Amino acid sequence: MDQITDKACSCWLVSQDEIAHLFKSNALSISSISFPETESPVLHNLKKEFCDFSPILAGTGKALVFRLDDEPRLNGGFTLHHDDLLIEISASDATGLLYGWFYLMNRLQLHDIPCGMHVTQAPAVNIRMLNHWDNMDGTIERGYAGRSLFFAENKFVYHPDKIVRYARLLASIGINALTINNVNVHQTETRLITQTYRHDLISLNHIFRGWGIRLYLSVNYASPIELGGLNTADPLDAEVKAWWRDCFRSLYQDIPDFGGVVVKADSEHRPGPFTYNRTHAEGANMLAEALAPYGGVVFWRCFVYNCLQNWRDRQTDRARAAYEHFSPLDGQFRQNVILQIKNGPMDFQVREPVSPLLNAMPATNQVLELQITQEYTGQQIDLFWLVPQWKTILAFDTQRSSGPSTIEDLVCGRANRMPHSGVTAVVNTGDDPFWTGHVLAQANLYGYGKLLWNPGTEADVLAREWSQLTFGMHPLVTRTVSDMLLTSGQTYENYTAPLGVGWMVNPHHHYGPNIEGYEYDAWGTYHYADRNGLGVDRTIETGTGYVSQYSPENCQLYNNLQRCPDELVLFFHFLNYNHRLKNGKTVIQHIYDTHFSGVEAVDKYIEEWKGLAEFIVPEIYAHVAERLERQKANAVEWCDRVNTYFYRKSGVEDNKGRKIYK
Ligand code: GCU
Repeated sequence: MDQITDKACSCWLVSQDEIAHLFKSNALSISSISFPETESPVLHNLKKEFCDFSPILAGTGKALVFRLDDEPRLNGGFTLHHDDLLIEISASDATGLLYGWFYLMNRLQLHDIPCGMHVTQAPAVNIRMLNHWDNMDGTIERGYAGRSLFFAENKFVYHPDKIVRYARLLASIGINALTINNVNVHQTETRLITQTYRHDLISLNHIFRGWGIRLYLSVNYASPIELGGLNTADPLDAEVKAWWRDCFRSLYQDIPDFGGVVVKADSEHRPGPFTYNRTHAEGANMLAEALAPYGGVVFWRCFVYNCLQNWRDRQTDRARAAYEHFSPLDGQFRQNVILQIKNGPMDFQVREPVSPLLNAMPATNQVLELQITQEYTGQQIDLFWLVPQWKTILAFDTQRSSGPSTIEDLVCGRANRMPHSGVTAVVNTGDDPFWTGHVLAQANLYGYGKLLWNPGTEADVLAREWSQLTFGMHPLVTRTVSDMLLTSGQTYENYTAPLGVGWMVNPHHHYGPNIEGYEYDAWGTYHYADRNGLGVDRTIETGTGYVSQYSPENCQLYNNLQRCPDELVLFFHFLNYNHRLKNGKTVIQHIYDTHFSGVEAVDKYIEEWKGLAEFIVPEIYAHVAERLERQKANAVEWCDRVNTYFYRKSGVEDNKGRKIYK
């Protein structure tokens, strides 16, 4: 299975040996191919795309021209022109030509390359990053697609050809930055920045560089202690500073275009500046100063909260933590520090409000952190297409200023004048033959890259496009797959935790229902269900006051029960079971209805998928069918447990008289 091409294992991207066929199937004959005279690793790879092509070059046909020009375009932008005589891709840098080529391939796959076409494009988002949470023993934290692509048995173990295919796949959706190791940097991984692994890092960087992707490492804040034998990691200590300076000097000597580092500090037992009574600005700046001479940057994560909370304590609210820790530090971070902020204030739940920290620090670089790997969203067993969720996040207006103030404005660099902006995400790939465990979960990776390229693209367009590129143009397949993708997030939300309250999952592995799994725990993740109702009161008057971290407009929206949107209402309010929602239903009836309808939707997917049997490669067909059956079992378990639990708490019967186990 490892030897088969991307296309054969159902992927959106055509492999190199299928390129000639792609032109033929569009009735396009190519007489010559020309490239710019200059040399670069990216151009080298671009030329290699056509290694199987020469035999089919015909005397009569169009010229395929790749040209570098001086047109002002954003980084990675390109122009594709098609007329009677030529197909020309022009760009101001080699990566732009590469992106133009992938775009052309997509158009050819979709049979949509009309003569007279003239298109100019450029990525809207600057930093388009992925974070691997891979450990050097080969496991992947929150990974659901096999083992690490890079590591095994505490060593670098990878197949260069496979990494090339992976880098090409990522470049085809415009990814330009990548970390290869877990943000939780354990003992072995701490040594990744040392000479011990330098040779491997150089080789890996060499591959990714050729596809326009910069490499970064997650580093351990306590490295000066663990590696350097110092007795402190205090960011103001001269020896600590000197240690990091030496460390980066050596790294950049070997890899001059290395990207920089990602740091999880003072978070879930990871070391950080708090130990030395220093702020996160002091901690991050120390690393940034050492990286600055080489143009390196620090991605500093804001996932900082008390994970040893007492559940009896009703005052502490985990949701408040990131904003409280970081917002007072605005303006104190160096220009090459970028704060990495999770989309919500908790932790990648199915439904959360947007983090109030995003766009709340006008003098600080920020990137939005998303999770493509489906930790809380079905673990690549259940279908959950995340693009609609991401579009909701990007559309959120923080109302922080009279100027552009949506999350999209922030990640596109329009909301403030800081030099760095963008998006990063925990990736969902591994050494699985389909890359992502569930074949349909590839659509999450694809959608992520494409959305960063153009956040204005509608979800249904992306769903359709992915389906057509992956499974071909049959209308029934396109319709069925797109509908499944587009409804899958709502379906999953329906049969899991209701109305934005979150959690209710099995502790540790986070798959499957466990209504009180996190209720009496130390993680600060409670729903407070009792005989009257459920939800977290985060209002100003009677709750934790979390709402006050938003702009006044958004604060009022969430604080006021009459205005608070249904889908988030239990995130902000404790409600009685008989409280009537805006949708006209009581809370308890809404819980029953959504849970039954979630299971029905999965039944429908199973039936609809059966209708595709004759159009999909048997192996892929069977694979998805098997996932859907497992999803059904999970959905039923969720539905029955949640409904029974809340029936027992509330004593209220379902008004449609359906089966609730008592
Ligand atoms: C979640 C996740 C952890 C991860 C952490 C993080 O808590 O469950 O596995 O380490 O997020 O983002 O750092």
